[in-house]
Amino acid sequence: MTTDRKFPSTRLRRLRLNSSIQNLVAETQLMKTDLIQPIFIKEGLKGIEQIESLPGINRYGSDAVLNEVEDLANLNIGAIAIFPVIDPAKKDNHGSEATNDNNFLVNEIKKIKAEFPEVLLISDVALDPYTTHGHDGIMDESGYVDNDKTLKILRDQSLILAEAGADIIAPSDMMDGRVGVIRDALEKNGFINTIILSYAAKYNSQFYGPFRDAVGSSANLGKSSKSSYQMAFTNSDEALHEVALDIKEGADIVMVKPGMPYLDIIYRIKKEFKIPTFAYQVSGEYSMIKNAIEKGWIDRGVMLESLTSLKRAGSDAILTYAAKEISKELL
Ligand code: PBG
Repeated sequence: MTTDRKFPSTRLRRLRLNSSIQNLVAETQLMKTDLIQPIFIKEGLKGIEQIESLPGINRYGSDAVLNEVEDLANLNIGAIAIFPVIDPAKKDNHGSEATNDNNFLVNEIKKIKAEFPEVLLISDVALDPYTTHGHDGIMDESGYVDNDKTLKILRDQSLILAEAGADIIAPSDMMDGRVGVIRDALEKNGFINTIILSYAAKYNSQFYGPFRDAVGSSANLGKSSKSSYQMAFTNSDEALHEVALDIKEGADIVMVKPGMPYLDIIYRIKKEFKIPTFAYQVSGEYSMIKNAIEKGWIDRGVMLESLTSLKRAGSDAILTYAAKEISKELL
């Protein structure tokens, strides 16, 4: 860095004179190919249903989802993350519907991949859409989520999703050892090119509220917390530890979640490991920004600013509910 010459020979404002020069010296540019759109699909729904706590975001019925994926493909959004909203009658204590190889999600994945083979499809691995208690794993009598029993189910769930055609399996459950178990199972069963995107540094965050409404797990979860398996927001070295383990166990990509409150974590992970690192601008972040924009309290440019901050911190790609909308402004 040259700091030997000073004002007036150095005037940093010269490069801020107009947008042409600003563009030439821009260090970070968010592109539409950086974005992943989460999509909620709801079992039994016909058409589209708005999600009140996520302005502008819908749940799609089986009859409406292909249209939406086509729209996204036309906008050059190359990747989607599918989240199912399961019929409450199919939920139980063990989330057994998750390992039914003819379940709603499996059939939707097959349908989408048959129609749009080029769209990368990401599927979460966790039990929360399927359990009556809304937790990501199996609960024992005391209410503790049992790590090792859950692993077996996550392994089976992953195989079913890979078999259905998911390109990327994204364990979001935060059980210890799950990436290794899933990777072994995928290898043994011939899914050698299925990508594992690990929610490696997933914090126990209150920013997930609107998502839990969207998938119908918040009422089930009630006041119960995920703090015995998701990370405490006080910690950052621990995130590096999580990532190191997941890489060893066979993760191809790691993810930090939420996004903007955890820019330091993204930055440290990228700096330390130099592997593909994604960020999830989660439901609460999106909703806060979107609501304030709709009220006219902040300018709509805040969304791009927020997403760009994730990329600047080191994210290679970003899951965001704003993907579709913002892609219209991007290259
Ligand atoms: C489920 C899962 C959650 C999110 C993604 N996958 C919620 C949770 O862990 O309770 C949150 C996404 C968001 O808030 O947008 N394991």
